[in-house]
Amino acid sequence: MVLLIVEGSRVLAEIESLPKRVRIFDTTLRDGEQTPGISFTKEQKLQIARQLAKLGVASIEAGFPASSAGEFENVRAIARERLGPEIVGLARSTKKDIDKALDADVDAIHVFIAASDIHLKYKLRMTREEALRAAVEAVEYAKSHGVTVEFSPEDATRADLDYLYQVVKAVTDAGADRIDIPDTVGVMTPTRMKYLTKHVLPAAQGRIVSVHCHNDFGLAVANSIAGIEAGAQQAHVTVNGIGERAGNAALEEVVAALEFLLHVNTGIKTELLYETSLLVSKLSGIPIPPNKPIVGANAFAHESGIHVHGIINNPFTYEPIRPEMVGQRRRIVLGKHSGRHGVEHALKVLGYPTEPDIVLAVLKEVKRLGDMGVRVDEDTFRKIVEEVLEKREE
Ligand code: KIV
Ligand code: ZN
Repeated sequence: MVLLIVEGSRVLAEIESLPKRVRIFDTTLRDGEQTPGISFTKEQKLQIARQLAKLGVASIEAGFPASSAGEFENVRAIARERLGPEIVGLARSTKKDIDKALDADVDAIHVFIAASDIHLKYKLRMTREEALRAAVEAVEYAKSHGVTVEFSPEDATRADLDYLYQVVKAVTDAGADRIDIPDTVGVMTPTRMKYLTKHVLPAAQGRIVSVHCHNDFGLAVANSIAGIEAGAQQAHVTVNGIGERAGNAALEEVVAALEFLLHVNTGIKTELLYETSLLVSKLSGIPIPPNKPIVGANAFAHESGIHVHGIINNPFTYEPIRPEMVGQRRRIVLGKHSGRHGVEHALKVLGYPTEPDIVLAVLKEVKRLGDMGVRVDEDTFRKIVEEVLEKREE
């Protein structure tokens, strides 16, 4: 059945199997930390984990306990804080890795093994049959210890479709609680992701299916949403989209699209998205690009006269949501594209008089400086106004 999302007389979307609720599985501390050059300290990981718990994520993938002694300590410290969300540790499909995750006291283990022939041949040097056996044994072993198990067939999006189906069916039969579909090198498009998710769903036999999209072609968020529209009930995401190469699907973008465009409940306190983004940017050392959706400095900034005029009359003329809904604020920027309304607004906000001759004189100077490439920040603006007022007195 095709479900149409309609608002008034507008059709917003055609969706076949949109779930009512989507679990947000955050992997900022695992896949996000795999960003070249990032290595969080234990205290930084704890700080981020606490913020993610406050934000309301369902799962925190705290790290890969078998990868180093320090990482084991970090994951165990997070797990022992009992923050509320499920704490997950990553493990290859080996008893050794699973034991390490169990020793780290995690609630859930994210077991993975490669599914594509290129990974099997050049990375694992295993046949499909050997990998399938290792996956089933690993899931059975982890399940025998009573933890929740999520299974990822790595590089699923480049795997043979029949083999992928066989793997998902076998690990589900072996007891996996959730199945994740990793687009490991970000090669999907939304249409392909929908097709693949629908293909995997029956093999998962009613277990939660998740999407894990990388951003190599800038499609990670769109592909995640497409997978969800096809029936996936969980998304793996990272704050600010940090991660290997071009990164992962950005938590704030996936959540905002689900909550505000599709009206799907994620359990996230969206008004905390901006402060979460700032924290991760500060601790990772990766600046937030100004034009980044939702959390960028320009996401709710307006300079052109026409836009500012519209915004002042009704913010929805040029904003899809109120900035406060994601913890952001509106910024009216002054420059060569400014008009009377923007200048009048700035004068009002800063407590200056707004007589038409003052507005026009200030606007003239703002445009002159703007044409010279000068950024009219608050200090510069105040200087311009003071000079205009002084001249007016003379
Ligand atoms: O991108 C990927 O394939 C992963 C796996 C570990 C699930 O991060
Ligand atoms: Zn990944």
